[in-house]
Amino acid sequence: MRSLCVRVRRGEGESVRKKLLEKGLLDRALHVDRDDDHIYLPVLAAPEGMETEERDFKERTRGERDYKVLADVPEGLRALLPTSFDILGDIAVIRLPEELLPHASQVGEALLRASPRLRSAFLDRGVVGEFRVLDLEVIAGEDASATVHVEHGLRFKVDPRRAYFNPRLATERRRVAALVKPGETVVDMFAGVGPFAIMIAKLARPGVVYAIDLNPAAVELMRENVALNKVDTVVPLQGDARQWVFDLPCADRVIMNLPHSAVDFFADALTRLNLGGTMHLYHICDRGDFQGVLDDLVLKANGMGVRLEVLRGEELRTYSPTASVFSADLLLSGWL
Ligand SMILES: C[S@@+](CC[C@H](N)C(=O)[O-])C[C@H]1O[C@@H](n2cnc3c(N)ncnc32)[C@H](O)[C@@H]1O
Repeated sequence: MRSLCVRVRRGEGESVRKKLLEKGLLDRALHVDRDDDHIYLPVLAAPEGMETEERDFKERTRGERDYKVLADVPEGLRALLPTSFDILGDIAVIRLPEELLPHASQVGEALLRASPRLRSAFLDRGVVGEFRVLDLEVIAGEDASATVHVEHGLRFKVDPRRAYFNPRLATERRRVAALVKPGETVVDMFAGVGPFAIMIAKLARPGVVYAIDLNPAAVELMRENVALNKVDTVVPLQGDARQWVFDLPCADRVIMNLPHSAVDFFADALTRLNLGGTMHLYHICDRGDFQGVLDDLVLKANGMGVRLEVLRGEELRTYSPTASVFSADLLLSGWL
């Protein structure tokens, strides 16, 4: 297939390939081509500052891009290979059922072969501690979990072994950012490496976004991400959000992305919300229970002398066979 491409001298291909991947410009449906002197990287559009030319490329077949087809596992187990896994920058993070654990490295190798942009694959052995970091075991490639993840054109330094980051929340972060009005004071109580806060600072025009996290490593990465994305309205703060909120000005918007226990912080957050302000609360519960949780929050607010309106309550993603992660937009609409 004829495609636009970037020609680089052999030996210099890897850094250019990485640059193109970061910009989302490498055409992964086509094979990279080579001759004696050069490597030809097919691109979706002409990258700024790079010369391009046209050339014929071989298309990757579906099988070549599907790790499930490539994985060297016993045929009887192939159906157990997960359909979904996370990609953070140039690493893949996958959970495997018990039966596939002895074949984890074959699965890792298949992930890398199916997606040439990937440098490493990790087995996700679960979430650890109150910082919600991942216990990761390398199953292919380099044992280095730090990477740069691109989300809606923003770049986030992440390291899931040191600080929480969930690439599946990209759409939700963008949705929340689109709601922020100019000049708002926003408090992100459980900010991690800063994706909500930085997305808001970049896509909206807040007055200030206070971004709190208990995990010092998350705040360190957040500071780097603030610099990387050149935002000047995000204030990273390390410590317990329950204490910080009382040292900060009242907010027009509070983000509470700590789905296992955000409701325990509800009353404190509500007292620090301006009238007319919105709370974005994330919560994990059995699918049949969410409406009851919302009703309880409204009653709790009423008990504190204020009116709370549920603007929106939505299932974001499944968490287990019976439970899901929900998001709620709650408006502090007046005094009772
Ligand atoms: C589910 S993560 C959310 C991170 C971020 N909002 C995101 O979308 O990537 C929850 C974060 O809350 C932090 N955390 C837990 N308890 C906290 C507390 N009491 N005060 C501030 N941060 C806390 C954890 O370290 C973790 O980074």
